[in-house]
Amino acid sequence: MSERIFIGVAWPYANGPLHMGHIAGCYLAADIFARYHRLKGNQVLMVSGSDQHGTPITLRAEQEGVPPKEVVSRYHESFLRSWERLGISFDLFTSTGTENHRDIAHDIFKVLQDKGYIYTNTTPLPYCHTCKRFLPDRYLKGTCPNCGNLDTRGDQCDNCGKPMNPEDMINMVCRISGDTPDIRESEHFFFRLSAFQEPLLAWVKEQKHWKPNALNFTRRYLEDGLKDRAITRDLDWGVSVPVPGYDGKRMYVWFEAVIGYLSASKEWASIQGQPDSWMPFWQESTRSYYFMGKDNIVFHTIIWPAMLMGYGGLNLPYDVPANEFVTLEGKQLSTSRNWAVWIPDYLDHYDPDPLRYHLSMTMPETSDSDFSWWDFVRRNNDELVATYGNLVHRVLTFTYRNFEGRIPQPGELDQTAQDFLARASQLFQDVGHNLELCHFRTALSSAMSLAQEANRYLDTKEPWKTLKENPKGTATTLWVAMSVINCLKTALYPFLPFSSEKLHGMLGFTDALSERGWGWEPSQNALPPGQSMNTPEALFSKLDDDVAATEVERLGKAVS
Ligand code: MF3
Ligand code: ZN
Repeated sequence: MSERIFIGVAWPYANGPLHMGHIAGCYLAADIFARYHRLKGNQVLMVSGSDQHGTPITLRAEQEGVPPKEVVSRYHESFLRSWERLGISFDLFTSTGTENHRDIAHDIFKVLQDKGYIYTNTTPLPYCHTCKRFLPDRYLKGTCPNCGNLDTRGDQCDNCGKPMNPEDMINMVCRISGDTPDIRESEHFFFRLSAFQEPLLAWVKEQKHWKPNALNFTRRYLEDGLKDRAITRDLDWGVSVPVPGYDGKRMYVWFEAVIGYLSASKEWASIQGQPDSWMPFWQESTRSYYFMGKDNIVFHTIIWPAMLMGYGGLNLPYDVPANEFVTLEGKQLSTSRNWAVWIPDYLDHYDPDPLRYHLSMTMPETSDSDFSWWDFVRRNNDELVATYGNLVHRVLTFTYRNFEGRIPQPGELDQTAQDFLARASQLFQDVGHNLELCHFRTALSSAMSLAQEANRYLDTKEPWKTLKENPKGTATTLWVAMSVINCLKTALYPFLPFSSEKLHGMLGFTDALSERGWGWEPSQNALPPGQSMNTPEALFSKLDDDVAATEVERLGKAVS
């Protein structure tokens, strides 16, 4: 039976191009998951968008001396282009700058206020007398009271991940002027997070399927006791507050951005010409997955669920498969020091699938992982090219040349062939089972071990030696190998969509693989003998060792 799967992916700040950390953190995992479920025939809605508000954007705009609008539209365009080139298949990638999003954020704010979950209070806030303004979030720098990190920010500590109230920060200074701010009283709206302590505890208790990172972080956070949080800021860039008399204030970016999941779903529905089609995903039985990096866990397991509980009638997250971080050549990523692999730059030089492959194999699912260019080149050459690409290439070119460019007609299958096909069925199921559980690395490893077994099968059978004296047996061997290649194209499609589609075409199919469904059987029906193939081409190309040396050399240098 077809299921509904909602996939929300963290909204990237539109203050710079995407880098490999973003992709490894959540976008690739979400895409693999979405592609798998679409193949399975499930109804999938995968949404996200540019996070256009908050101090990351205004700080950047101030540095460049341009309006925030200019910064966000530049990077929003860049994101859209990267998704397309990398094959990240959103059903909608919108932004928090739309009227639709503003209206829905207003609605949620007002409903929560009517129900008593939002109230006003005055609160002491840092005010910089040099800059003549209240200093939100990232305009502040100081020491984390929790872990002692000396360069923590006003919204969240990068080191220990704890969200922060500015007044708790030690030795705070203004990032712009370097001065110590005064503390002044300002009136703000507060979200009564404390009211959700018990309901959240009860809900989290049931989430036994969450990964330890999300579960432990959330539990610890709840054990500390939930405090109400200010959800407005003294700013002029952001979503307005739907209450008269608060013109100088905007909604706090985190309160408003998470609402994007709902507003994007509604926007998607109206684009479909079926304005109500978001409802089943939010109001009927649906599994809702939220993909994010580990620094965003609390917003998806505490804040957003509390807002949803307060609002009422909308589905809570089912799973929050958060990834850990990636380092680059053993060092922490840094966009300011250009210690990063930028996605647009990568795609100008290399194909998308090798990056998807490498990041899937090394995905920081349960612990941090490191991206190294040497490792990338090695995996491309030894695994994609030598194991999988070479398997496909030798079978397809040999068949194409010797069987008139057609899928050969198999004779009876011997025990070796039958065992091999049974093993393929088993591995194909393993891939599906692991994808279901968001175990992406294991799923991909299972698929790749099938490619290895196919190579072993060929080495045993040596069809290139048997062609002359035993054409019929050779045809059988080749058909069996091609049947397993036909299996690999589907098993690998969520990870390597571009090469899988290409392979599908080379096998002589004329429809799109994405329309074929998740399934495989070693039958002549699935791979019809006599079907005309298309000229085989290499799926992947070998990379020179120079590539690694050159790319490592470019790291940390100023971008031209
Ligand atoms: N913009 C945030 C970041 O890049 C993520 C926001 S996720 C959302 O860290 F759910 F709040 F939108
Ligand atoms: Zn800290």
